[in-house]
Formats: sequence, structure tokens, C-alpha cells
Amino acid sequence: MIKAVKGTRDILPPSSAVWNHVERIARDVFRAFNYREIRTPILEETALFARGVGEETDIVSKEMYTFEDRDGSSLTLRPEATASVMRAWIEHRLDQIPGLQKLYYIGPMFRRERPQKGRYRQFFQIGAEAIGSESPMVDAEVIQMVVEILNRAGLTGFKLLINSVGHPPCRAAFAAELRERLKEVAPSMCGDCQRRAETNPLRVLDCKVPEDQPIIEELPKISEYLDGPCREHFTVVKTMLDAVGVPYTINERMVRGLDYYTRTTFEFTHGDLGAQSAVLGGGRYDGLSESLDGPKAPGIGFAIGEDRLILALQAEGVKAEEKLDAYIAPLGAGMNPQALKLARELRRAGVKADMGDESFRLKKSFEAAEKAGARYIVIVGENEVASDTLAVKELATGTQEQVPRAELSRHLRR
Ligand code: HAM
Repeated sequence: MIKAVKGTRDILPPSSAVWNHVERIARDVFRAFNYREIRTPILEETALFARGVGEETDIVSKEMYTFEDRDGSSLTLRPEATASVMRAWIEHRLDQIPGLQKLYYIGPMFRRERPQKGRYRQFFQIGAEAIGSESPMVDAEVIQMVVEILNRAGLTGFKLLINSVGHPPCRAAFAAELRERLKEVAPSMCGDCQRRAETNPLRVLDCKVPEDQPIIEELPKISEYLDGPCREHFTVVKTMLDAVGVPYTINERMVRGLDYYTRTTFEFTHGDLGAQSAVLGGGRYDGLSESLDGPKAPGIGFAIGEDRLILALQAEGVKAEEKLDAYIAPLGAGMNPQALKLARELRRAGVKADMGDESFRLKKSFEAAEKAGARYIVIVGENEVASDTLAVKELATGTQEQVPRAELSRHLRR
């Protein structure tokens, strides 16, 4: 038997209904905030992620699906979409369009991680990017938009963590100090930390090994290294979030796994997700465009891990599938054309309707209607057609009524 590739999944009904529910809500919210959709290719040149996301990150150094194309070029299945959106922004000269570009995307991403609950090799993101402004107002608006999506999707148990990682000069000073301090303490830390102390000292802050936590607590904090403008930017973001009543926790140890971040970074976590608790992550990336040879293009965005959002919603008991309104049962093969016509009429009027295939004994039709989870069964016999009045039975109560054809769709959608 051929099975789905490790770390990939089939999304089957009824849970596909929750996916549609979430995507519909996200599109509605994006519309309300004046974001427009961008669709970028799943395949990109490998150099885009190496330069955009960063050679040293786990994503680029360990997790990408990279292969050589027949012409010898190196291609990669996108592990994230921010670099792709920025590439498109540069390639199509979107800087020439006045004003802020507000873009959103929904689609699959690929990372070769060790699969576990909430972590897959093909997963979906619902993301947005606002490019062209350095204003902290935009940071607050983006975060407010995320909260709106989560609220409307029906999620409650989430928590917002924010931090500022400063601009490159602040971070360089912080990294230098960390490197110095780690020289003393890293030898008593885990293997990963010992390696990171050399290659990417900020990542040490992200270590989850319990024995290392007391050591990490004693390390310097990024807030002590923010310069005046970065400090001011973060203050305004916090003030704006307070103004719109979005609660947050500052987590100075939140180091996002991508190198392009500057200033504001954030994550939303959910208690029911176990080890992979981040439902979404995002932040500002004021130097990304320049690192891809583009013009100055400060931006901020986020990506919701749709798989995780759905796990969290399911853990909270959110269901999205609508019931079937009506099951249409022709009484005998001669009634098939009439049943088809009635089905067309009802479906056009917005009724969710299904039909029996070939077994026309009433008992069989009732069983099929029950199995399909229909609310009503509509019987189409010669008398019904002649009188333009259909026999409609509500399956839950067993009550049967004669309903005039003209009123049928309203009756079934009640
Ligand atoms: P990220 O934190 O790498 O950020 O991913 C965002 C979210 O995608 C995570 O919080 C998580 O919910 C989900 N995710 C990541 N990896 C997996 C996986 N293997 N399986 C399931 N879900 C996963 C980014 O990708 C940035 N591009 C976000 C961004 C947009 N920053 C600025 N703009």
C-alpha cells in the first residue's frame, strides 16, 4: 500500500470543514483590514532563503527540501513565505506603488523537521505582510488583526508574547556581550548551547533543556541593549496594544528562528498544543529587502500555523460542519427526473441537498438519509408531483408535513 509521505497529511472531512471555516474567517478579516491576496510559487531559488531567512538558522541549515533541477540550478520548496513575498515585492517594483502594501497568503510550507503533534513536514500557513512603513502603529494593527482572526475563529485559550530584538547594531552589541558571558558558562550547558555559543549566541536563549534554565536566567537581557529609537518604537507598540485592550506578556527570551527580524517580534501560544505551543509567529523585518538587493522596505508580518490553529480549535471543541438540510428520496425509478429537478431547484435556493442513487424503497431511503445526517427527507412520488406538494419528514422528531413546493426551500432552511 502506498501511504502519504512521512510528515505529510491528508485533510479529510469532517475536519476539512474546520479548515474552510478558518480560511473563510481569515479572508474576511484581511478584507476588513484592507489586505489583498498574493500567491507566490511554492518553488523558489535556494539562495532566496539562504540570504533572506539566514544560512545559520535551523530552517536553512537543516530543514529545507532542496534539490538540483535538471539544468543544474538549486531549487527549494518554500519553508516560509515572507522571503517569497519580499522577492515578489522587489521583482515587481511594488515600491513604485504609493502607500503601504498590505498582502496576505494562505498555503503549504515545507520543513524537514521531526514529525510530532503539531509539527509536520508539509504544513499550512495563513500569513500577512505589511511592507513600506516603519511606524509602530502598523505593528499594533497587525497584532490586533491576528487577535481578530483568532477571536472570530472561536479560539479563546491563547496568549500573546512580545519582545523587541532591536536593530542590527543593538543586536550586535548584545550578541558580543552574550558571547563573552557564554565563554564562562557554556561548557556546563547542553551540547546545542555549546555550539550556539559560538555560531549564534542569541539562540542559546531559546534552549528548552531544564538544567540550562538557571544559567540562562542569569544572562544579560536584550532590553538593556536597545538604543533610543528601538526603545521608543517598542514603547509605542505597547502603548497602542494597551489602548486597544490587547493583553500581552513581554518575553525577553523569545528569539524567533529566522534571522531577518528587527525590533518587534511576537508569538501567540496555546495551552492545549503540548511541546509545539506556538500557534503563530511574526515580527518586523526592516532589513530584509536590502539583504535581497532590494530598496529600503521596512515591513512586518506574521504567519499562523493553520494546522496548529485547527488542533487548538478542536481541543476547545469547535466544530464547523453544517448538517445536510434535505435528503431527496424518489419513489421508484420513474420519479428520478422529477427528483433531479427538485434537487436543482432547492440547491439554487441555497438548500444543502443530497439524493439517493438507485434504491427506491422508502425504508432504504430513510436509512440513507439518517446515515447522511440529513435534517429532513423529502419524498418525491407521483401524487406529490401532481399536487405540487411534497411530503417532508423531520428525521429527529419523526413529524411529517405536506409542504407546498413554493415554500419548500424556506421550510428546509428553517
Ligand atoms: P515561523 O515562526 O517559522 O515564522 O512559523 C510561523 C508558524 O508556522 C509557527 O508559529 C507554527 O505555528 C507554524 N509552523 C512552523 N513550522 C511548522 C511545522 N513544521 N509544522 C506545523 N506548523 C509549523 C514564519 O514562518 C515567518 N515567515 C512568519 C512571519 C511572517 N514573520 C514575518 N512575517
